[in-house]
Amino acid sequence: MTENTSELWLCTITILLATAIFAKLIGIKGSKGEKSTGRLPPGRRGWPLIGDSINWYNAVASCHPPQFVEEMVERYGKIFSCSLFGKWAVVSADPSFNRFVMQNEGKLFKSSYPKSFRDLVGKNGVITVQGEQQRKLHGIASNMMRLEKLKFHFLNDIQKVMLQTLSNFEDNQVILLQNVAINLMVNQLLGVSSEAEINEMAHLFSDFVDGCLSVPINISGFAYHTAMQAREKIISKINKTIEVHRQQGAPIAGTGVLGRLLEEESLPDEAVADFIINLLFAGNETTTKTMLFAVYFLTHCPRAMKQLLEEQDSVRSNSEGEEMLTWQDYKAMPFTQCVIDETLRLGGIAIWLMREAKEDIKYQAVHLDENIYKGALEFNPWRWMEPENEEKRNWRSSPFFAPFGGGARFCPGAELARLQIALFLHYFLTTYRWTQVKEDRMSFFPSARLVNGFQIRLNKRHHQQTN
Ligand code: HEM
Ligand SMILES: *[C@@H]1O[C@H](CO)[C@@H](O)[C@H](O)[C@H]1NC(C)=O
Ligand SMILES: *[C@@H]1O[C@H](CO)[C@@H](O)[C@H](O)[C@H]1NC(C)=O
Ligand SMILES: *[C@@H]1O[C@H](CO)[C@@H](O)[C@H](O)[C@H]1NC(C)=O
Ligand SMILES: *[C@@H]1O[C@H](CO)[C@@H](O)[C@H](O)[C@H]1NC(C)=O
Repeated sequence: MTENTSELWLCTITILLATAIFAKLIGIKGSKGEKSTGRLPPGRRGWPLIGDSINWYNAVASCHPPQFVEEMVERYGKIFSCSLFGKWAVVSADPSFNRFVMQNEGKLFKSSYPKSFRDLVGKNGVITVQGEQQRKLHGIASNMMRLEKLKFHFLNDIQKVMLQTLSNFEDNQVILLQNVAINLMVNQLLGVSSEAEINEMAHLFSDFVDGCLSVPINISGFAYHTAMQAREKIISKINKTIEVHRQQGAPIAGTGVLGRLLEEESLPDEAVADFIINLLFAGNETTTKTMLFAVYFLTHCPRAMKQLLEEQDSVRSNSEGEEMLTWQDYKAMPFTQCVIDETLRLGGIAIWLMREAKEDIKYQAVHLDENIYKGALEFNPWRWMEPENEEKRNWRSSPFFAPFGGGARFCPGAELARLQIALFLHYFLTTYRWTQVKEDRMSFFPSARLVNGFQIRLNKRHHQQTN
């Protein structure tokens, strides 16, 4: 049941691009009259301007574990400073500090990303915009993914994609689960449903994502340039859909979030494309990786696996004859929800969060650690059934459990992600049994993954089997 999770703390790394004021931030300024320490956290300055940027890029781009951050943390502690892209940066691998930063979005900190990143994900997208515009786009995103929409649109669409994806595997086939493209987001957002179209968009999008974590050189041959081109192609696809929608006027069935967005909201055309691209960017990797990690944790925890399967089988027998699960079925999966929460806690894939300090602030450390979660590095879904964890578990507002962030930038796709993960677990567990073929371990850098891709052998499960 115990996982080798020595790198776990890395999951909540937050990069803070610092301003000069930032110095005082970590110096934990006392109340009036006390002297401000006014210095940056320990760290090194490196070369002027270039600083640690090269090391940073190497770390981000390489497929090796997060050496740079590991080295720095070993040397300077979980909150350290370095020089990135001509600015002082404070890098924090301290979850409680990160949470504090998130809670103060727009007040003490604001979301901050390099220009190259903004150019790529779009200047009209919710991830990079600020203030009034962010609130508006955030509201639309929340609206497009609220429970009502999940019940009436997403629930069935997700299951169709899931059945289609799983039908591609043969009995006894060995797969790398990490590389299995479950193109839920492409289908859900763009409303494309033919396999060829989904694959084309998925390919473009994967080029696009690669560019987001690469050196921003806009010259042919560099990943960033390829990503820029992919972006143009994605936008022109979206533009075509907008055009068709304009001409036909009436809503077309199965047009996904894009279709509903055009129907219900009145965003300018260029904002529509950025909006969709932002959702794809924020929603794909996070959700797919959580599914992967859940299967990984379960494989190493047979007791949880058994209990989850029992629950999923009983859900099946309740909706006898129906091919698709209903919303009631989804609501009758308490243990599955525990597994999802535990996977989010332990494998938490906080995307790279960047914040800029707006003013001098005071910070009081409250640690998220062994004192809060007994056996914190163990996969233990039953912990979420303990009464003492009931409060903690509230992922919308808990200070100790915030897999979806918090405050003004709280993840608008949280409920959707949970639905997708639960349905994936349902179909995967009730359709297949599997054995792990190759040793594996988690790494959180440059993004969360299993280093060997999680190689497993799949066998079709027969329904009379009970495990
Ligand atoms: C397990 C899956 C997911 C996790 C762990 C996750 C986590 C997060 C976190 C931590 C944030 C806050 C970022 C910040 O503070 O800067 C965030 C924001 C966001 N998420 Fe998710 N997310 C997931 C799935 C999704 C899905 C499925 C969608 C939608 C398709 C989505 C859309 C967004 C958007 C648009 C934002 C930006 C909100 C804003 O800046 O106003 N996420 N997510
Ligand atoms: C856990 O992982 C670390 C590095 O990733 C490795 O040095 C260590 O030997 C591993 N421990 C076990 C018990 O596998
Ligand atoms: C979504 O994320 C998964 C996991 O990182 C990746 O394999 C896949 O290519 C991504 N899909 C798209 C459309 O980007
Ligand atoms: C990058 O290059 C492409 C094509 O060469 C161009 O269309 C685009 O505007 C450039 N983007 C930036 C941010 O320079
Ligand atoms: C898509 O449409 C927007 C708004 O009409 C326009 O500004 C943009 O140039 C178009 N992009 C492509 C690639 O067609």
